[in-house]
Amino acid sequence: MLKDLNIVIGITGGIAAYKACGILSYLKSEGANVDVIMTKNACEFITPLTLETLSGNKVITDMFERPDYTSVKHISLARKADLFLIVPATANIIGKVANGIADDMLSTTIMATKAPVIFAPAMNNGMYENPIVQNNLEKLRSYGYKIIEPVIGHLACGCEAKGKLASNETIIEFLKNEMVVKKYEYKRI
Ligand SMILES: Cc1cc2nc3c(=O)[nH]c(=O)nc-3n(C[C@H](O)[C@H](O)[C@H](O)COP(=O)(O)O)c2cc1C
Repeated sequence: MLKDLNIVIGITGGIAAYKACGILSYLKSEGANVDVIMTKNACEFITPLTLETLSGNKVITDMFERPDYTSVKHISLARKADLFLIVPATANIIGKVANGIADDMLSTTIMATKAPVIFAPAMNNGMYENPIVQNNLEKLRSYGYKIIEPVIGHLACGCEAKGKLASNETIIEFLKNEMVVKKYEYKRI
């Protein structure tokens, strides 16, 4: 089902960033082509080298790097993608996209794409319960973005509460379902 699909994984600066590696490996094993965009803050948690090795593609972190003068990377990736998965999604990227901010490679590419974008939030429960974050999530839903709800579990702050990244299995299942919907919609056009 995932074979030959172009999937862009966006990784943001949360403690669950390392979990993106397992998801990426699974997608690759299923035959998907995976490009990775990391925020600068994500690079504090895991290295682009790890993601480059797992994906077999150069990881993009910098909006203004120009190794390829024949394409504008955020536009070419936005067009090429069949699907975007933002994992983990910080309160920050949720807030930025919900409010039309495009100030780095990831938020700009999300702004430019017409592909489905799925956010998998993970954060401290205080952040997650903040009405601003909840409002931003609602806003994203209203624009057609998909949210994979975090779960109750042991958080990095030491408490047991809602904010833990959904399991890899849940995220992959969600993504597969999304591809089925997308195929169906394409057929209708
Ligand atoms: C150790 C540590 C862990 C963090 N974990 C999270 C997290 O799980 N979720 C979150 O939304 N922010 C978390 N943050 C805060 C983000 O890194 C911060 O809001 C940052 O601006 C996010 O930038 P980005 O969205 O561009 O990657 C954490 C910060 C630190 C120092």
